[in-house]
Amino acid sequence: MAPVRIGILGMGTVGQGTVRVLERNAEEITRRVGRELRVVHAAVRNPARLEGLGLDARISSDPWAVVRDPEVDVVVEVMGGQEPALSLLMAAIAAGKHVVTANKALLAEHGNEIFAAAQARGVMVAFEAAVAGAIPIIKAIREGLAGNRIQWLAGIINGTSNYILSQMFREGWDFQQALAEAQRLGYAEADPGLDVDGGDAAHKITLMASIAFGIPVDFAHCHVEGIRALERTDVVYAAELGYRIKLLGIARRRADGVELRVHPTLIPHSHLLANVEGPFNAILVESDAAGQSLYYGRGAGGDPTASAVVADLVDVARTMTADPSNRVPHLAFQPDAMSALPLLPMAEVESAYYLRIHAHNRAGVLAQVATMLAEYEISIEALVQKETPEADSVPIVLLLHRCREGDLEQAIARMEALPVVVQPVLRLRVESLAEG
Ligand code: HSE
Repeated sequence: MAPVRIGILGMGTVGQGTVRVLERNAEEITRRVGRELRVVHAAVRNPARLEGLGLDARISSDPWAVVRDPEVDVVVEVMGGQEPALSLLMAAIAAGKHVVTANKALLAEHGNEIFAAAQARGVMVAFEAAVAGAIPIIKAIREGLAGNRIQWLAGIINGTSNYILSQMFREGWDFQQALAEAQRLGYAEADPGLDVDGGDAAHKITLMASIAFGIPVDFAHCHVEGIRALERTDVVYAAELGYRIKLLGIARRRADGVELRVHPTLIPHSHLLANVEGPFNAILVESDAAGQSLYYGRGAGGDPTASAVVADLVDVARTMTADPSNRVPHLAFQPDAMSALPLLPMAEVESAYYLRIHAHNRAGVLAQVATMLAEYEISIEALVQKETPEADSVPIVLLLHRCREGDLEQAIARMEALPVVVQPVLRLRVESLAEG
């Protein structure tokens, strides 16, 4: 059979990795697909990036030349960002080309229009590389668990923030020191704010929620908190209470809607997810038939992300001649069978909580705090207050039983209004991740 002709937009880390993996494993891949996957055209701004790759393809500086090339069957978009990536993808789809993309930000924010256009044109948009690098989580949820009703998923899906939290815990570093090292090691996005403020994880959990529950992609309603407000002392207090702090993306189906959120979370230190360290990713899925299943691996990097890009290319090559109605739907569920379950506001979320309150060390402060919580029927599970003789305020750390977040926010607002409380209260969620 004739080769599948590939055009690549972008020759950064992932583009180079894709060319390397296709070249290195060409024989294995051809044995799997039954035809060759051949890169015929690449768009690259800086030709130095091609050095040493031995790429025998047409090279253009203009990505539109690739999208308009009639010899290209499949466009691989690994340039990132919103524009011109969105226009290029839409043009490729309109031209009847299949698309493989690693662009989670683009799909999280424009997925509905991209998938609708692809559906109408009868082409595939494959995006395994957009979520958790090498981990085949899209395929696992969309196909491996297709017989299940998925209840929730919780994932460490940003390697940079996981590395930072690991180093704060293991080495006693502060946030800035750990971030600088993550950047030096090349884990962080070009804009590290996307990593540490939770946006990158939010893009990924938004996509996973859609394919887990069959709901439209709705990044705008994903609740996002990052890890900047965490102090080294929070990591220490959490450890004393038996927890590790991880930046989790969580999607949970409830009878009345879907919780979709990214935030630092205390999880039991003995849980498998708590022991995912450094730049690694892991996603825990709870579903009715399979129970809990855990997916672990490298969430970033050239070859690991290329592993996902090439797997998508293999899928596309195998089914490009099939009737479009017989292919796996983009978002796992048939487009006319999507659910209208709403995304729930955070006030409706129920969780256990960790509070860090800085207050003057005076008689009656704890009693006032406990009374305010009791008025909202919020119960205290544990409390830590350490001697800090030199300081004019002391941190009081509370672990709270499960309650409604809206109630807790009201109690916190009243605590913060107390003259003895000297800075905003830090509120973190606590998840047991228990089965059932
Ligand atoms: N910067 C991301 C991370 C990798 O740290 O996980 C790509 O999504």
